[in-house]
Amino acid sequence: MTQESAGPREPGSSGPSSDLFGLTGKVALVTGGSRGLGREMVLAFAEAGADVVITSRRLDACRALAREVTERTGRAALAYGCHLGHWDELDGLVEAAYQRFGKVDVLVNNAGMSVPYGRPTDVTEKMWDSVVNLNLKGPFRLTSLIGSRMAERGGGSIINVSSTGSIRPTPGILPYAAAKSGLNALTEGFARAFGPTVRVNCLMAGPFFTDVSKAWDMPAVEETLQQHALRRGGRPEEIVGAALFLASDASSYTTGAMLRADGGIP
Ligand SMILES: NC(=O)c1ccc[n+]([C@@H]2O[C@H](COP(=O)([O-])OP(=O)(O)OC[C@H]3O[C@@H](n4cnc5c(N)ncnc54)[C@H](OP(=O)(O)O)[C@@H]3O)[C@@H](O)[C@H]2O)c1
Repeated sequence: MTQESAGPREPGSSGPSSDLFGLTGKVALVTGGSRGLGREMVLAFAEAGADVVITSRRLDACRALAREVTERTGRAALAYGCHLGHWDELDGLVEAAYQRFGKVDVLVNNAGMSVPYGRPTDVTEKMWDSVVNLNLKGPFRLTSLIGSRMAERGGGSIINVSSTGSIRPTPGILPYAAAKSGLNALTEGFARAFGPTVRVNCLMAGPFFTDVSKAWDMPAVEETLQQHALRRGGRPEEIVGAALFLASDASSYTTGAMLRADGGIP
């Protein structure tokens, strides 16, 4: 299905589309696509038929995944190395994506990180800036650039990967929680800015066992997880269903929404 044919279904049409969650003919750009949740989304989108743009700081890691994508799915994959918290590096990413594929149908603002600290007074300006730049400034700029091109072209889906930390901030993640909370606000604002053709949604992740979990105090985390409805953390591949829903026509009447994939936080 092409982007042009991806609009709402005709009133009166009945039955689910056979390709409701499909991404055939689409191009998906995933920031932080080399590892963790981003890698799972890249592979799932390619399996669903999309060509993909994979970007992170480590070009070699992006290239390795691009090769894997093409070997496993036959889809085209562009690897691009850049720092996603650096405003000036994002024009180059956008140019490379449009030069290679001519369009972007799905943008996932996934790259993100927090920095550990003891007390709030231990947070330096440099730490604050690095967290806010990657989780909030970069997504703002990239969504501005790609969202406006999507709107000109007549369609697209943007997914902001936020965190349950944005609605349940704990003392050890305050800059991160504030940045992700800003990302939640951008989701609704950009949904209005680029509607009615471009949809912008938030995928709010809970605790997933990616590389970030290597730094967790596991006994303490396991205890906290007992308060969650599902009483466990997420496997990275468990992000895929929600991501495919938001990326595809399955969510054609969903925009400005927050979808939690968190095992049921207390
Ligand atoms: N895992 C969780 O428990 C959890 C919970 C809530 C929310 N989230 C959110 O989910 C998203 C993905 O998290 P994850 O657990 O998959 O993280 P991850 O495994 O640490 O992967 C992070 C990805 O972002 C890239 N990245 C990091 N800093 C970057 C920078 N400055 N510029 C460009 N790329 C950068 C990394 O690649 P390079 O190192 O090559 O740059 C990597 O591809 C993040 O936004 C995170 O905040 C995760």
